[in-house]
Order: sequence, then structure tokens, then C-alpha cells
Amino acid sequence: MTIDRVLVTRRLLPGGLDPLSAAGLDVVQRENDVPFTGSELAIAAGEVDAIVCVLTDRIDAEVLRAGAGRLKVVGNLAVGHDNIDVAVAAELGIAVCNTPGVLDETTADLAFLLLLAAARRASDAEADLRQGRWTGFGIANFLGTDVYDSTLGLVGYGRIGRAVARRASGFGMRVLHHTRRDTGEQGWVGDLDELLVSADAVSLHVPLTEETRGMVDARRLALMRPHAVLVNTARGPIVDEVALADALERGAIFGAGIDVYEREPEVHPRLLAAPHAVLLPHVGSATEQTRRRMAQLACEGVVAVLAGERPPNLVSPI
Ligand code: GLV
Repeated sequence: MTIDRVLVTRRLLPGGLDPLSAAGLDVVQRENDVPFTGSELAIAAGEVDAIVCVLTDRIDAEVLRAGAGRLKVVGNLAVGHDNIDVAVAAELGIAVCNTPGVLDETTADLAFLLLLAAARRASDAEADLRQGRWTGFGIANFLGTDVYDSTLGLVGYGRIGRAVARRASGFGMRVLHHTRRDTGEQGWVGDLDELLVSADAVSLHVPLTEETRGMVDARRLALMRPHAVLVNTARGPIVDEVALADALERGAIFGAGIDVYEREPEVHPRLLAAPHAVLLPHVGSATEQTRRRMAQLACEGVVAVLAGERPPNLVSPI
């Protein structure tokens, strides 16, 4: 019996690969943690039965076609899977697994952190202090906008959106949510524009798809309230970064808490310089516990597919 080979593209947290070792699979990893280029991935894909990858690895049609025949499953350490050509994978009979359910609370914590930090200008105020500019308490220094007792608009109401809603209720916020299909739940708003007009804070929790790309553009930003805060922990290209910088520069919205960018790791220089922007480097799920659990879940999916089973975290039915 031949032992299946699993390419793990990056160094993961201790314990993350346990499901692969418990199943007796042959783990293929580089000595170092240098990311694979597209062509290196394509070459590697032809020599393995499974790939465990991260969201910065582009598993495109070329990589998948190079693996076709032997490659059976790709386990992505993320709940979003816009880095993988899932349609081509399905066409080739290659399963794709992701990490739903294990990062919801951690990501919701970060969304709330960004909301509070942007509304209360934590980054500006701390930078001022650290740079030695603080001259003492000032009645009108670093005035923010209240989060408690305000209205939160959630765009997308899946597991993470709901986890943010639970936090919001602890802050006495009213919560609206927008999804394409009526959830039948209190607070549903069918028209995104209407939600933007009605919310004091807007937090994005939709996947990146052709429909959501550029969804928060200049026109929609102009609908938001002047004291509103925009939070994005979903995917960068959902927001037009230049339009956001422009809205912040003009004071058309109050602030923004951003964890994801259109062209990571680049951040548009106008957004970097924009007032009232709290900018984090894609750390939504970055806790030790969650990152370990994400690796294990992606690996569990890989093990199940290689054993001929259907794991619960299958993205594309095969
Ligand atoms: C992280 O960005 C994820 O999609 O899990």
C-alpha cells in the first residue's frame, strides 16, 4: 500500500498537523517558511495527493490542472476560499476543504476591537502619546463617537456576523443585518443601501465573490452617516480602498477599522495617511488556539477525503 503524500505549504503551529501524522500520511514541507511561487506550486501539486495551504497561496486553474490525476484534496487554512479556483477543482474532481466554525468568535472579537478602536480613535491617540506629543488631559482631545446605544449594520449574517451581533447586544446596540435572502429574523434589511443609511457602524461579513467585489464603493460610502464607522475583517477587495480613503479625508464618514486590503500586503498610501483609520495586518483569526484549530480542521478534511469520506468542511461537493 502506498502512503499518501501531503504538501503543507507553510510552517504551522505545533499540533496543527496532528491529524496528518495520526493518519500515517507522509508530510512534505520545505525546510524554510518561504512561500511557494505559482510555478513552484504547480510543480509540487503534480507530486502529491493533497495540499494544505494558506490564503496567500493561489491555487489557481494552472496549479490544479498540474495536480490533476493524483491530487485529490486541497485543505485551505481559512474560511474564505477566494484564493482557490473552486470551480476548476470541482471539474477535476479535486475536493476543497476550509475551516468554518473554528474562527468565528476570534474574528468577531477583532471586528469589535476595530469598531471600538476606530470609534474611539485609539490608534491616533496612542501614536500621539508614544511620539511624545501628549501635553496632558484635554477636554476636546481625541473626541470619538459613541458605540454603546448606537445601531450596528452587519453586511452578511453568517457565523461571524452573528458572533459580532452577540457582542453588540452586550453594548446595548441595535443590530440590523443585510443578506440577499430574507432571514426571517428581526433586523433584516433587504436593501443594502437602506442599511448603510440607517447604521452608525457597518461591519462586513460576506465572502469575496464576483458579486461582493467592490460592493462598498464611493456611491455606497456616500450613503453612510457622517459619524459612521466602517469595519472590514472579511476580504479587502469588497471595499474600494481609494474611495474609502477619500471618504475619510473628506470626513464623509467618521472612521474605519480595517484588517484586510485590496492588494495585500500593499496598503494604499492614501488609506495609510487617512484620518481616523485603524489598520491591522490581516490578523482576524490570529490567536494561538484558533490558528492551531484551523490547521487541524483543514488537515482533518484532507485525511477524510483521502480515506474516501465526505468531511463536514467540504467546500465543493465532489
Ligand atoms: C481568514 O481570512 C479566513 O478567511 O479565515
